[in-house]
Amino acid sequence: MTPTSILGISAFYHDSAACLLRDGEIVAAAQEERFTRRKGDADFPRRAVEYCLAAGGVTPGELTYVGFYDKPLLKFERILETYLGTAPRGLRSFLLAGPLWIKDKLFIDRKLREELGYDGEILYAEHHESHAASAFYPSPFEEAAFLTMDGVGEWATTSFGMGRGNDIEILSEIHWPDSLGLLYSAFTYYTGFKVNSGEYKVMGLAPYGEPKYVDLIYRELIDVRDDGSFALNQRYFNYLSGLTMTNSAFDRLFGGPPREPESKLTQKEMDLARSVQVVCEEVMLRMARTVHRETGARRLCLAGGVALNCVGNGRLLREGPFEELWIQPAAGDAGGALGVAQLAWHRHCKQPRTVTPGRDGMRGAYLGPAYTDEEIEDYLRGIGAPYRKLERAVLLREVAQLLADEKVIGWFNGRMEFGPRALGARSILGDPRSPRMQAQMNIKIKFREGFRPFAPSVLRERVSEYFEMDVDSPYMLLVAPVKAGRRVAMDQSADRLWGIDKLNQLRSDIPAVTHIDYSARIQTVSRDTNPDYYDLIREFECLTGCAVVVNTSFNVRGEPIVCSPADAYRCFMRTHLDYLVLGPYLLEKPGQPEWKETGNWRQEFQLD
Ligand SMILES: [Fe+2]
Repeated sequence: MTPTSILGISAFYHDSAACLLRDGEIVAAAQEERFTRRKGDADFPRRAVEYCLAAGGVTPGELTYVGFYDKPLLKFERILETYLGTAPRGLRSFLLAGPLWIKDKLFIDRKLREELGYDGEILYAEHHESHAASAFYPSPFEEAAFLTMDGVGEWATTSFGMGRGNDIEILSEIHWPDSLGLLYSAFTYYTGFKVNSGEYKVMGLAPYGEPKYVDLIYRELIDVRDDGSFALNQRYFNYLSGLTMTNSAFDRLFGGPPREPESKLTQKEMDLARSVQVVCEEVMLRMARTVHRETGARRLCLAGGVALNCVGNGRLLREGPFEELWIQPAAGDAGGALGVAQLAWHRHCKQPRTVTPGRDGMRGAYLGPAYTDEEIEDYLRGIGAPYRKLERAVLLREVAQLLADEKVIGWFNGRMEFGPRALGARSILGDPRSPRMQAQMNIKIKFREGFRPFAPSVLRERVSEYFEMDVDSPYMLLVAPVKAGRRVAMDQSADRLWGIDKLNQLRSDIPAVTHIDYSARIQTVSRDTNPDYYDLIREFECLTGCAVVVNTSFNVRGEPIVCSPADAYRCFMRTHLDYLVLGPYLLEKPGQPEWKETGNWRQEFQLD
């Protein structure tokens, strides 16, 4: 029998992606940005589709269904109603946004067919159904509640419900313009970061601040009820009618205009970040309690952009009512491509779902392209780069030794990750014990703000020896404290420092991955999903006694994570990375041919 091939697509908003299912199995999934090298690329995911079809060995004509992750007409209705409701104030943004919406969103059906060369059936899911499906279907649970929260899809900004077997049912929704994602984005904008990608920075900045503005936020901006439902006071926001997130009333409330991007961070931004983070966590907790009460479920699955708030997720795990959490690694809109494809399989094709307890269906999120040794070697020969090809055991031992010698390594291994985090396939690695590692990696390699901490990858069975947590966190979506016995008390003088100076104070015996509040954003590594990465950390442990490495995404600030060997080599040569591992090939910086740039990449990524 010919297999059922379903292509899921998310596109035209932010972070376009494609996903291919064959008989319900996830064959491939990738974000368009990785191929086009345009961060958060929202265009039709041409290259990601090409990759997924090639990975599955199918042509567009052989696809059984194509699924699109939201309903363009519903979304258009919301946009139209919003603009009509606020005209003429909204006229300017309507005119600016209009042609794009009309071109890309109203005629999606035609566009999908043209782009794909496909004339079969196209299935549409509602935006939050796609998120819910991406949360529940790949989870390791036969039965679980789900909670999805994001900026906005069509109308819904929050939804929860119940997944059982092959069925998901949405029980309740909160609608636009009330949105926890947009509240967070408003503060992201106001503190001078980029909306839709800078939210992570706000979360990272929060521990430096005091929750000074929490009461003000509750009093003026958001009315949070006991059950976690909420309403935003639109008097302070501009996203209904303008091209910015916040307005002059917001400025007056917080005593001045938004921070100029790239200008110096002050205590005010840190206090704002802390305050909105506190509010966000509180809403997440209250919502989770309501979901628990309404569904009686013991397990909870999360997706939607807010589920990337791993500090909030950590609190849900520790303080929330659920016994277990599972979080979709591509929790943002890219994951909608996977969700809609699974909806097509389980709901439309009425296919059962098989669950293996303890194992999810994401294959460690290693769902992107891999390159053969020949492809890598051809590339290296082509550019005349010197390299050594090593036996696996020799390579792992040598790289472990280099890490122990405080070298920083670009680690390119196997299939690329799906979702925003690097999980040991396209990662930059370092020694977490080194007091210098944090500053060195932030400034000389990532060219990014010094206040941002790095994340640890730890062997799954060792996680509770280093952190106050003993569950799987394969996708780096849970934050937990570093174990008390490993912490170093800060002296009084450290309180007067801030930013990178404060971060440079030794806070534990793994300082490079310990944030200012002793927290860490943890990835647990299991041998069955990534044997090479697991064995590398094992080697490092044999050598040093430390079962943790620093893992940060393989890119510089502003650039998508590397996809191909060429992307990896370029990043290696542009930065102070000491070594590059491409599959079995080891490259060291000295002796590489002189790197010639075309164009001003530093300007392109706004690094200067
Ligand atoms: Fe979304």
